[in-house]
Formats: sequence, C-alpha cells, structure tokens
Amino acid sequence: MAHTTGATARTVADIMSSPAVTATTAETIAEASGRMGERRVGSVVVVDGDRPVGILTERDLVRFAASGADPSATKVSEWMTADPYTVAPDRAVSNAFQSLSEKGYRHIPVVDDGALVGIVSMRDLMKIAQIQPAGRLAGEVPLGLEGVVVAETHIGHVRGQEGFYHYRQYNAVELAEKRTLEDVWHLMFYGDLPTIAERERFTEEVRPFREIPELVQPLMANVAKLGDPFVPLNGLRSAVSLLGSALDFRPSLDIDVDELRHNAMQVCAVVPTFLTTLYRLNQGLEPIAPHPELPYAANYLYMMQGEIPTPEHARAVEQYLISTIDHGFNASTFTARVITSTGADLAAAVTGGIGALSGPLHGGAPSRALDMLDAVGTAENAEPWIRASVERGDRLMGFGHRVYKTDDPRSIMLRGVAERLGDGNVELAKEIETTAVRVLAELKPGRKLYTNVEFYAGIVMDACGVPREMFTPTFASSRVIGWTSHILEQAADNRLIRPSAEYVGAPPPQPVPTID
Ligand code: ACO
Repeated sequence: MAHTTGATARTVADIMSSPAVTATTAETIAEASGRMGERRVGSVVVVDGDRPVGILTERDLVRFAASGADPSATKVSEWMTADPYTVAPDRAVSNAFQSLSEKGYRHIPVVDDGALVGIVSMRDLMKIAQIQPAGRLAGEVPLGLEGVVVAETHIGHVRGQEGFYHYRQYNAVELAEKRTLEDVWHLMFYGDLPTIAERERFTEEVRPFREIPELVQPLMANVAKLGDPFVPLNGLRSAVSLLGSALDFRPSLDIDVDELRHNAMQVCAVVPTFLTTLYRLNQGLEPIAPHPELPYAANYLYMMQGEIPTPEHARAVEQYLISTIDHGFNASTFTARVITSTGADLAAAVTGGIGALSGPLHGGAPSRALDMLDAVGTAENAEPWIRASVERGDRLMGFGHRVYKTDDPRSIMLRGVAERLGDGNVELAKEIETTAVRVLAELKPGRKLYTNVEFYAGIVMDACGVPREMFTPTFASSRVIGWTSHILEQAADNRLIRPSAEYVGAPPPQPVPTID
C-alpha cells in the first residue's frame, strides 16, 4: 500500500507500494499474469529470496501473447527483463523522477541494501514531483549543484571528506611525486601509464604540436596588446579559438575519437607556447620558440624566462602541473563537457573551460593568495589582519573548497615542495595558514575551511620565478589536459546536457499590455 501522497511526500519510500507483488523465475507466465490480474498491478518483480532479479510487466505479456507460446508451459525467466533498474527508498521523488523519466521504464523496484522493499510507478513519481512547491524542488537540487552527480566518469574523482583525489586508478599526489607530466598526460588520454618506450613515442608525437601554427603566429602580437592590464588567460582564450579555426577543427559530433584526440593533443601541446608568447610580447620581449630537448615543464619555464631552468625549479613546477590536471566535476571541466555535449568542436569546449577558470572563485586565487601574504607582511600581523578581514566578511584567498572539508591534499604536497625549495615566504605562509584555520574555525564554525591548492601554489610558482600574472594561466596549461580528457570521454558516449530550471517568476500567462 502506498504510504503518503501529495505535497508532503519527499522520498521514494513515501510513495512506493509495499510490499511489491512478486513472482519467481521458476513460475509460469500463466501464474505470474494471473497474480497481476488478481492484485490489479501492471508488473511483478521477479525475486530470488528478497533480491530482485527481474521484472515482468504488462508490456512483456503483450509481447508474449503475440508470440503464441503456451503461458502454462513457459517460465517467467524466459520473458522477464533481467537485472531491472532499481531505485533507493531514500531518493528524493523529484530527483528519482528526473533521472528515471528518460529511461522509459514504467515500474521501478525499490531496493534497500540489496533487498526488495517496494515498487514505485513512474506515474506516481511524476504526480508528486510536479505538485511539489518550487521551494522544495529547489531545496532538493542544491544551489550550485553541490553534491549532485551528473555523469559517470573513468577519469578521476575527489573524495572531499577524506582529502583524497585520483586520476584513473592512481593517487594523484603519488603520480606527482613519482612520474613526469608526459606520463600522466598519457595516462589521462589513453588510460594507462606509459613504459619508457611509450613515453618517448608520446613525447615525439606531441613535440611538433608545441609550435604555434603559421596562420596564428602573426596574430599573437595584436592579441598581446588587448586589455589594460593585459590578462594572459583572456589572451589564451582568444588564441585557442583562433587555433581551432586555423586548424579546421570539426564538430566533435562529426569526427571519430582519433581525430578528436589529435585535436586535443594539438591544443594541450601549444597552450604553454601561446601563454609564454603572449606574456613576452606584452612585456615587449621577443617570444622564445619551444626547446626541442626539454620536457613539458622545463620548456614552459624556458619559454617564459628565456633561460633553461634549474632541475629543482622545473621539477617543482612539473609537480604543481601534475597535481592540477584534473579535479572532478569542477566548474571549468563541467563547462567543457556541456559544450562538448552539443557536438561543438574541441576548441569551443576548451575556450569555454578557460572562461570558467578565469573567475576568482575557481582559478583566479593564487596571485591573490600571494597578495594576501604581502598585505599581512609579518607573522605578528597575521592574527589581527586575518581576524579583521573575516569579520569584515572578506574571503581569505586560498582557503575553503566546495568539495574538501579537510586538508586539500594538493595543498599539503605543495607545502612540501615550497619547503624543499626553501623559499623565504614559506615560514610566513605556514604561520598565516595556522592562524587562518584557527580564526576561520572560530568565526565560521562548522564550515571546515582549510587551505586549498592555490595557497601554496602561489608560493611555489613565485619561488620558481613565475610572475604573478602567469599563475592562473599556468594552472590552465595543465588543466587543459584534464578538460580534453573529459571532452574525449563526453564525446565517446554523448548525450546533450540539457537540465531544467524551476520557474519562480510572476505566474504566466499575464495579459501583454498594449501601448496605445
Ligand atoms: N574565507 C572566509 N570565509 C569563507 C571562505 C574563505 N576563503 N570560503 C568560504 N567561506 C565561508 C563563506 O563565507 C560561507 O560562510 P556563511 O555560511 O557565513 O555564508 C561558508 O564559508 C560557505 O561558503 P560558500 O561560498 O557556500 O562555499 P563554496 O563551497 O561555494 O565556496 C570557494 C568554495 C568558492 C572556493 C570558497 O571557499 C572561496 O570563495 N574561497 C576563496 C577563493 C579561493 O580560494 N578560490 C580558489 C578555489 S580552489 C580552485 O578553484 C582550484
């Protein structure tokens, strides 16, 4: 019997019919259909003990009748749909309705801990989902989509409560400690870490793509003049768009995975060259061509600074780059996937990702975190400065994270890198970190605010001679590998991403006023 109906119903448990009418695989179609008729239900859940193993619906019976087979001599197991889609009893009604409505099922077994506890019909879900007041629906899909699962991915994941994240099956921090950027790039694109021979092949393959294509090169000087101040990330946004046109990137919908991956390699390889070229042109310096012998990170510093970097600096930046390649369904990754879901070309999706990353709430904080260090100035000033700032309602840059409610593992790793580099700022940064975490816990209790990746990223990059205006662009140069990995995954199993919004404006239709 259904428990509750109407606007008070929130979860599937509230509206399911329980217990569900069941049959076993060994029963005949005649027995099962007789029971459906008696109990006036449109389906029976086929069980093994209390575990659902199939479902037999009226639709199956119609198909069966058309086959002309004998219902008393045919087993349920032959006509049921095995391993049916199920729903958990604590699932919100509107949420269950949204995700199940597209699948075309009419009856869904409700399963708790592997055991059948009831059955719910799509019609009931729809009725309740639609009559719930707007506020309730809005509450079930949290603002900012926090915690809402919108896709399945093989690329990586963040476990915010544990302070752990991974790329494919590997701990991302361990990858940053043990492997090169090219290795991790290979892992992201192909799903496995390369052998030495594979690494060499991969490096050879991407090397020519580091060069800015001839058609785009002469446009760089003008792009580098745009904006006062010039924002390198905005320049990169334009450059990637130009690249897509110059290299005739075709809609992802029209090309196979090899062509799309080829596009992805071209973009990832040229981004560091774009950034350093734009930066140097804007500074009135000659751009420096990629160094054929240097690996990705060392080459990036070389093209920016004009000198071959020390191995310590190259490795520190490489570790930072590896640690920021991917990070779950962050705003820019989601943006890139949404754009790809329309079938647009790869440059369009990367350009969108760059746009999302440019916001201070996402990628724009490392230079601001360093600005904060300057503003605090001394260890003694940390407490009063931080306290005044939080009391004023300001956000401390480099603190807080949507997913991490404990230490950000990237921040811990980068603190270690900063200590290894022995930068003068590290001691002050550690003092600010300790003080800020304490003050935030006191003034913002329960919010669980700790340093995020950007706090020590600024210190590491500063120590390696990366200028502040290049911090977020450097972040973009590794994240583009993550975006394009997601673009490849999205395109491989695509469905247009097109959610809905709850209309909460004035009730329509209002008469349209005429102007006389
Ligand atoms: N300083 C002070 N208070 C903070 C901070 C902060 N850095 N971050 C969050 N809070 C407080 C908010 O004021 C809010 O308090 P309230 O409940 O009194 O209103 C509460 O914590 C929750 O904040 P939200 O904005 O809901 O948290 P959300 O998950 O949306 O924000 C974000 C995450 C945007 C990163 C936030 O912590 C922030 O603005 N940090 C500073 C900017 C920053 O460091 N950005 C880089 C992020 S890392 C990255 O993108 C790679």
